[in-house]
Amino acid sequence: MTEEPNITKAVQLLHRGDLVAFPTETVYGLGADAKNPIAVRRIFALKGRPVNHPLIVHVQNLDQAEEWAVFDDRAREIAKKYWPGPLALILPKQPTVPDEVTGGLSTIGVRCPSHPVAQRLLSAFGSGIAAPSANRFGRISPTKANHVRSEFNSDLFVLDGGNSTIGIESTIVDLCGLRPAILRPGYITSDDINQHWGPLGVSDRVAPGTLKAHYAPKTSLLLSRNPEEDCRKLQEKGLIVAVLSAKTANEYAHMLYDELRRLDESNVDILIAEMAEETGVGIAVNDRLTRAATGAPTHIHEMNNQTKEK
Ligand code: TXA
Ligand code: MG
Repeated sequence: MTEEPNITKAVQLLHRGDLVAFPTETVYGLGADAKNPIAVRRIFALKGRPVNHPLIVHVQNLDQAEEWAVFDDRAREIAKKYWPGPLALILPKQPTVPDEVTGGLSTIGVRCPSHPVAQRLLSAFGSGIAAPSANRFGRISPTKANHVRSEFNSDLFVLDGGNSTIGIESTIVDLCGLRPAILRPGYITSDDINQHWGPLGVSDRVAPGTLKAHYAPKTSLLLSRNPEEDCRKLQEKGLIVAVLSAKTANEYAHMLYDELRRLDESNVDILIAEMAEETGVGIAVNDRLTRAATGAPTHIHEMNNQTKEK
């Protein structure tokens, strides 16, 4: 059963510079007072994350977001359409933002999450919370309070808000150029943005954290368009195989990280993940699957006859 989240305690911890893990509709975040550079540095230390990977500042609403980022009319329209929700915007930063948050960049990521516990936390705290996903650097993002606890195994305070409904990280849209550019695909699709604010451009910046290898399980991960046949072939070689697939892309996104974690702890030699159809949210699912496969121990991306040992 989900416990009643202790917002008051979380706010006290944030005010005194401690970290708090909290739920969002995408994944759980590891939060610090974004105005406190020492608290923000603690995030990087605990995650083992390079300090030049900028953080997203979570805000309660558009008004608060404007204290952190410089919005133009287009940015306001986009925020009004999708916030609160699974969309992070990259915009020029306000001069007061600590360098620790942005990794020294002149831009900043801002997002207003819709999860009711995140909303309550942000409203009680009254200021921006800098938060990456609450996992160790390069590992699978957490979608449950217990995922966070098992990641850090420490006295980290975790607000429990149940399962993240969306299950993969927010769509990141770079609004610093003439045309909006998608830096990370997510639940809000490039078609959505393109339809209203297109044509989309290509960003001249990369999100420094979107590495080719990310979200990595400890078990080998094979991406497949034909999971049943691939499963059979591998089983014939004597391997213990588990297959990951879902009926819809939304369902896939929702369970992806939880299933990767669960199967990673089970006694299988190789995971097979069925690729989603490359459209809509399926694009984001395939993006995460590809990065997970790249970071997994043996780099088998396509079915081949030579199954490597674990
Ligand atoms: O759904 C989410 O966005 C979750 C929840 C907790 O809100 N957060 C999340 O944070 O995924 P993180 O740190 O794991 O990923 C944020 C990404 C990183 O790839 C980072 O490089 C990029 O956002 N980012 C942040 N600020 C940026 C900036 N100014 N320019 C380019 N990329 C930026
Ligand atoms: Mg992350």
